Amino acid sequence: SQEEECKGNLKAQLAKLFEVSLKVTVPNEADVDPLIAACTGKFGDYQCNNAMGLWSKIKGKGTQFRGPPAVGEAIKNNLPTSEMIDSCSVAGPGFVNVVLSKNWMAKSIQKMLVEGIDTWAPQPPVKTAVVDFSSPNIAKEMHVGHLRSTIIGDTLARMLEFSKVKVLRRNHVGDWGTQFGMLIEFLFEKFPNFEDATETAIGDLQAFYKASKQRFDSDPAFKERAQQAVVRLQGGEEKYRRAWAQICEISRTEFHKVYQRLGVHLEEKGESFYNPYIPGVIEGLTKQGLVEESQGARVIFIEGINIPLIVVKSDGGFNYASTDLAALWYRLNEEKAEWIMYVTDVGQQQHFDMVFKAAKRAGWLPQGDNYPKASHVGFGLVLGEDGKRFRTRNTEVVRLVDLLDEAKNRSKAALIERGKGEEWTEEEIESTADAVGYGAVKYADLKNNRLTNYTFNFDQMLNDKGNTAVYLLYAHARICSIIRRSGKDVEELKNKGTLVLEHKDERDLGLHLLQFAEVVEEACTNLLPNVVCDYLYNLSEIFSKFYSNAECKVIGSGKETSRLLLCEATAVVMRKCFNLLGITPIYKI
Ligand code: ARG
Repeated sequence: SQEEECKGNLKAQLAKLFEVSLKVTVPNEADVDPLIAACTGKFGDYQCNNAMGLWSKIKGKGTQFRGPPAVGEAIKNNLPTSEMIDSCSVAGPGFVNVVLSKNWMAKSIQKMLVEGIDTWAPQPPVKTAVVDFSSPNIAKEMHVGHLRSTIIGDTLARMLEFSKVKVLRRNHVGDWGTQFGMLIEFLFEKFPNFEDATETAIGDLQAFYKASKQRFDSDPAFKERAQQAVVRLQGGEEKYRRAWAQICEISRTEFHKVYQRLGVHLEEKGESFYNPYIPGVIEGLTKQGLVEESQGARVIFIEGINIPLIVVKSDGGFNYASTDLAALWYRLNEEKAEWIMYVTDVGQQQHFDMVFKAAKRAGWLPQGDNYPKASHVGFGLVLGEDGKRFRTRNTEVVRLVDLLDEAKNRSKAALIERGKGEEWTEEEIESTADAVGYGAVKYADLKNNRLTNYTFNFDQMLNDKGNTAVYLLYAHARICSIIRRSGKDVEELKNKGTLVLEHKDERDLGLHLLQFAEVVEEACTNLLPNVVCDYLYNLSEIFSKFYSNAECKVIGSGKETSRLLLCEATAVVMRKCFNLLGITPIYKI
């Protein structure tokens, strides 16, 4: 049937039904989009809100209707019959309230259990997407801003991958630029035999960066040589390329440690990769008449923005913007990406706004919000307890590995305190501490609307009560233990048992489970991971209400099979949410 095309998405399935009704109700109004929303009141589960808007369109045009309630009544009467709907009623100025059928709800949940949660995945209208995220700079510290980008970008990539989109996970590392002249020259000076060393002696690249910067600022002759070095590197001279590659490799190893802990996969295509494409791209834009001369530089003017986008600096060199134009061109034309998203702090919003507008002027991207589409996914700052940018005591930036270590160690201590030291193997403790510690850091970031700043606080994120990963992971583990204690084989129950939703708390839980698909779709469309976090937290609360109700006893009750299936469905949906958020679930506590 038509509803089934929408997979698990309730809202979309209802929209299909109302679309049919609206066509019959107002045949002369072409293409009316059904307005479907979850009900806030107690008259139904969903409502259709088209009547008032339609009334204002059709009144005075000789309509048979006498006002919005009558339109609502007709919308209700013209609804095709569907197994989904138990009853409808019209309220106030024509709202059509829908009460879903408990039977249908129960069947849909059981169907998901049998066929898998993938059947509830969103279906975005794109085949290939680029997620440009993490993207730290070589030889500089990877800071908490990059941590945010890594966590948010990974989640967006996971949501799209779940939706069967081919995702190119791109690490746009800052591996090109004038700082390399200084670094290379300093490397030559400190380690003349740098290529013979089996292992580089640079060691701490941040310290090396600082020392070379000092040298650069204090010695004009060195500065001169450094500037020459950039030219020779960009000219492709072998020795310079090798020095550059070695410096990049050291940073890469550092970055990799963070990615490994977080379980994040990325494919590096740094700024240097796009370098060869820049001249051709700028030439193309110049031929189109977009590039103008301004104070010695070559720039693109963007309507509504008072500063132009500099694409060739006055010294003839390329910059961050030239690279991003080339990268965008490459992603659209060579990689055929239909959705390209850039995850950076909100401070770069104007940069991307200008790049995207230039691309629209050039006709690379369509006007409006159509595909292929480029989106800047901005995020706010991470703050310390003092309300300022998050730093350690000595005002240095926070080392990410140290931060992750601490989260893990604290989770481990909490497990030992719970007596797990005696109960569990060393390996179980380690893997659980990893899951909880890193999960807590990720969740504390993702649960906020990404645009807002948030305060980094270990005590808060590692609390086992409240809206934290710890609470949610433990809740999931408890559901798993209920199922284990029953001694029943859920695989068998899924196929042979029957799920029913009789009690109000069962029905409430069932409805929330069924809303998974529309929630993930919303999170995916608006690039908002916090929507999934809110859903997950509510799911856990609604489950608690069901489970703690004496009338909904699970094990040993007459409804054991059905309620075990409801527990299993909750666990499956929770696990999928964890998976989308990049959090590893735990199964016992
Ligand atoms: N390297 C940049 C930074 O650390 C982020 C790069 C974002 N991606 C891009 N295509 N510009 O701020």
